[in-house]
Order: sequence, then C-alpha cells, then structure tokens
Amino acid sequence: MDIKEKIQQLKQEQDAVILAHYYVSDEVQAIADYVGDSFYLSKLAVDLPQKTIVLCGVFFMGESAKLLNPEKRVLLPDTNADCPMAHMTTPESIAALRADYPDAAVVCYINSTAELKTCSDVCVTSANALKIVAALPNKEIIFVPDENLGQYIAAQLPDKRFIYDDGRCPIHARITPAAIDEARAAHPSAPVLAHPECIPAVLQKADYIGSTSGILKYATEHDVQQYIIATECGIGYQLRTQNPDKEFFFVSPTPVCEDMKFITLEKIAHALETGAGEVQLDGAVYQPANAPLAKMLELAR
Ligand code: 13P
Ligand code: SF4
Repeated sequence: MDIKEKIQQLKQEQDAVILAHYYVSDEVQAIADYVGDSFYLSKLAVDLPQKTIVLCGVFFMGESAKLLNPEKRVLLPDTNADCPMAHMTTPESIAALRADYPDAAVVCYINSTAELKTCSDVCVTSANALKIVAALPNKEIIFVPDENLGQYIAAQLPDKRFIYDDGRCPIHARITPAAIDEARAAHPSAPVLAHPECIPAVLQKADYIGSTSGILKYATEHDVQQYIIATECGIGYQLRTQNPDKEFFFVSPTPVCEDMKFITLEKIAHALETGAGEVQLDGAVYQPANAPLAKMLELAR
C-alpha cells in the first residue's frame, strides 16, 4: 500500500476529513478533501460531519478549527508549522492600546494565537476584513497583527481611524515594488494579482488585490492568458490545475512560507495513525477566543 492509499484507509478508520490551505505543498493539496483560504477553512470546519479534522496548515488554523469545534478532535500533522505573524502583538500591548483608545474595536486577523483572540472583539480574514470592519459601528479600529492588511482596509474606509501594532507577514513583506516592475517588464500584458499582506507600495502597483481564493477566482474568471502573482507560491498548484491553458509568473524571489511546507504526506499518515499533533487548548480560552471567531462568521454571512 502506498502512502496515499494508507491515508485513505486511515481516514475511513478514524472518521477523519483532511482540510488544506492553498499554501501547503502540491502533493498535500492533491490528497486533501477540501482546499481553501483561511475564511473558507474556518467556515467549513463548522459544518463537517466527521469526528476528526486533519488541518494541513499552520498552528493558528488548527487552533481556529478547534475553537469552532471544541467537541471534535483536530490534528495538526506538524505542530511546529507556525505563522510568525500570529505572535506579532501581545495581550499587554492590546490592553495598552485599549486604554489609549477606549472607544475602539479590537479587530484581530485570524493569523493570530488563541490567546490574542481572547483580547479581541472580532476576527477577520483577508477575504472578509472589509465587510466586517465596515459593519462595525466603532469609528476607531485597533487592527492587529497585520498592519499591511489593516492599511489596505483603512484606505477603503476613510471615515474610520485605524491604530496598528507593527505586525506583518515576513513572506509577503519581502515582496518589493522593484520585483513587481521586473515581472511587468518581462510579461508586459500580464495583470499583477497581489495579496493584501503585501506592503502598500506593492499593492499600489497591483491590478487586483485579494485573498488567496480571490486571486484564484480572478485568474480563473478572466479571459487573459498570463498573470503575475504576488503571494506565496503554494497557490500556484490550484492556479495551474484549474487553468491548465494559462501561465502564472511568481514575483522573484519566489515567496515561500517554509512553515506551510512542513506538512507532508508521511506526517498526515502519522497523525492519523497515532493521534499525534492533537490541538489541546486551555479550557479557560475556549469561550473568549471563540467569541470573536463566531462574531466573524456571523458578520460575514
Ligand atoms: P488567506 O488564505 O486568507 O488569503 O491568507 C493568506 C495567509 O497568509 C494565510 O496564512
Ligand atoms: Fe503566516 Fe505569512 Fe506564512 Fe501566511 S504566508 S502563514 S501570514 S508567515
């Protein structure tokens, strides 16, 4: 039996479903039952009938799935796969900002630890942040941890005042305006599709800005043959699979989130076989960390 057959068999035995983010490796996306962006994965996790969820992504994704499904077993094939941005603010820092801006809502990007979610009023993903922040009555918004996503949303909501805490995705922040210029010079007719975690100077040069699913939808629905992609390279698998006749050029150097690539078929099989990597959360965290996630799902509906 090869590793893929073994995973299929273990899935049946364990009543498990495999969810994968667009940034994990091609072979992991290929065996997953569902592949999507952070918003899709969190929405989906609530409705699945299986008792075990194998979350192929980084730690905060497993935590979010567990928070939304406390009664289910959530397995992370590699618990070391972490998002550095998820730690780029602290409860103390949020408390200090709340003291300075008592009327502000704390909006927390889903790329954050469960502990940070407990300090927040509502979570957002890149796919729903605009809709959710626009729906909040507060004029002042403390947006953590991703300042780049926050600035992108702030530019579209000029009536609100945004306050940040200096966090960013190191992978997207590394993409430079010069890299966009270079890609455009090489492929002049290709539109630039960028993720809002990129810095503002990169986003200014983009033809389309959206979450991973937004980028995929744009490229699939438009009648253009070539695209320049300014996000993590894992999305290339779905772009190419769903659009075999189109060409996709990633900015140089190719953005790679090493943590997402920690997930392998062998580790998925091991987690299913042994129960390794089960997400365990402190009982006191569930209610306060679930509340902003549940509010996100409600406001995004
Ligand atoms: P989305 O999949 O929500 O676009 O987010 C990208 C990301 O960096 C996830 O870690
Ligand atoms: Fe975190 Fe960036 Fe990796 Fe996404 S791409 S998981 S935001 S480090």
